[in-house]
Amino acid sequence: MLHYEPKDLSVLEVHKLLLGGVVPRPIALVSTISKDGINNLSPFSFFNAFGANPPVVAFSPSRRGKNASLKDTYNNFIAVKECVIQVVTHSMVEQVSLASAEYAPEVDEFIKSGLTPIDSDIVKPKRVKESPFQMECKLLELKSFGEGGASANLAVCKVVKFHVAEDLFTNGIIDPLKIDLVARMSGDYYTRASSGVFIVEKPIGKKCIGYDQIPHHIRESEIYSANDLGKFGNSESIPDKEDVNRFIQNFINETPEGFTYAYNTFLESQELNDYKKMLQTALSITENKKINLELTTKCALKNNDVDFAWKVALFAGNY
Ligand SMILES: Cc1cc2nc3c(=O)[nH]c(=O)nc-3n(C[C@H](O)[C@H](O)[C@H](O)COP(=O)(O)O)c2cc1C
Repeated sequence: MLHYEPKDLSVLEVHKLLLGGVVPRPIALVSTISKDGINNLSPFSFFNAFGANPPVVAFSPSRRGKNASLKDTYNNFIAVKECVIQVVTHSMVEQVSLASAEYAPEVDEFIKSGLTPIDSDIVKPKRVKESPFQMECKLLELKSFGEGGASANLAVCKVVKFHVAEDLFTNGIIDPLKIDLVARMSGDYYTRASSGVFIVEKPIGKKCIGYDQIPHHIRESEIYSANDLGKFGNSESIPDKEDVNRFIQNFINETPEGFTYAYNTFLESQELNDYKKMLQTALSITENKKINLELTTKCALKNNDVDFAWKVALFAGNY
């Protein structure tokens, strides 16, 4: 590990560490309006949501790195105390990047970026038509941390109205594949969230057994990853021996095939993520039984069939 105290680094180095390590960052596309009625639109990735009652979001229009001056978004927000925050989809990311260029205060970035302004219902700043999730906000508190270049100005906002495209929902939740958002990473890197989506079951409301209750032979296996063990720890109970034996009986093939055939079938099933077939063949092969059963367990975990995985993992402890 490398170890740093911010006081020993330049501001630029500290900034680079934060931009590289705190990732991916969601992007707030913030629309403000000046006292004279000039629209402003800029992206901010020092941004997140912090509570739902009331709905609170915050972003940081920091002081400019090169001369510590304040950004137009900051000046407008302080003056008018309203903004609209919208999320950034993959289809609009280049236009949003264009809106981040340093334009003079009298320049309307809606015009520069080609994004479409539409009226808000409650606040004065415009919404961005192209974004499928828009939040009309009022300023709750603005907290500045320093006056040097790149110092933070945390703008804490209350959401007074949400606008959400109807077609984003699947089973009552906003579907990450449909909303198709991008996020900011270090340097010029962005990530497209829909291409890395996976499921981790929530432990909320469950009495999880925890890592320490996982039997030793499972914890010490070289086949399972830390995430595999985390899934076991997330269970509420461990199947008992009788359950396991009854379950395994269902997969014993009465007329086992020869080793080569069975082993090839095992590998093919692994390739196809068919962990049930893997179990059937693993049971009919005498060689490397423990490893094959553990590979089967791993495949079941990969497919989130934790009950199946438990039973096979416990049975593998007999070898
Ligand atoms: C994706 C992205 C994220 C950004 N995040 C921030 C941020 O969190 N804070 C910040 O001060 N500037 C951030 N910037 C830079 C501002 O968008 C940029 O300084 C912009 O010119 C500010 O415009 P304004 O002066 O009209 O407010 C970001 C730029 C991009 C492209």
